[in-house]
Amino acid sequence: MAKIGSMGIRACLFDAYGTLFDVHSAVGQYIDLLGRDAAKISELWRNRQLEYTWLRSLMHKHADFWQVTQDALDFALDSYGIDDKELRQKLLDAYLRLDCYPEVAQTLKDLKDRDVGLAILSNGSPMMLKAAVENAGLKDHFDAILSVEEAGVFKVDPRTYQLGVDYFNVSAAELCFLSSNAWDVAGAATFGLNVVWVNRFGQKPERLPGEPVSEIKTLKELPLLLSN
Ligand code: 2OP
Repeated sequence: MAKIGSMGIRACLFDAYGTLFDVHSAVGQYIDLLGRDAAKISELWRNRQLEYTWLRSLMHKHADFWQVTQDALDFALDSYGIDDKELRQKLLDAYLRLDCYPEVAQTLKDLKDRDVGLAILSNGSPMMLKAAVENAGLKDHFDAILSVEEAGVFKVDPRTYQLGVDYFNVSAAELCFLSSNAWDVAGAATFGLNVVWVNRFGQKPERLPGEPVSEIKTLKELPLLLSN
């Protein structure tokens, strides 16, 4: 893995869901209501949510991530025979205030002190991202919250990663992209960003084009990585 401190990184772009925010914390709040299938329902919700983004992009049938998130939840609840409007609403409300991972705020503060540009670049709709960032108290840490809605297509379409290049007005080689999602790592690296894989869950690499320049376990390692 290359050291990236010498690469002249001007700004960091962070994926949101799974990287800054724990997507399973929504279901986590309602384990008592969902019972022993809770973890499986959460997995299915997340998997369908992502699959729908890829499929809609291929079909040229874009709908924003909030719609996709609701559709995926409906599929997951239906799959487990759950028909409960109140619970559905509770889970959606919880998705707007997901837990952020414990090291996130301090990492962002450390990077900001070093004058590194900081932005989110996510599939999330502007409404979702605003809610999550404000709820986690992260609003003041970011220069920008970039949503793929501006491109009208989901990751891994190159136009989504271009939003980061355009916002900071630098070359792709001057940007560092952080994601825990291996498919997003592949997409951003193929586009030409320097990608650091935040491999929180010790996953195996995807068999896709696009290699990360480095791999870390949590964002806590990022400030040191950028100075090495
Ligand atoms: C994102 O935040 C969906 O995790 C993905 O873009």
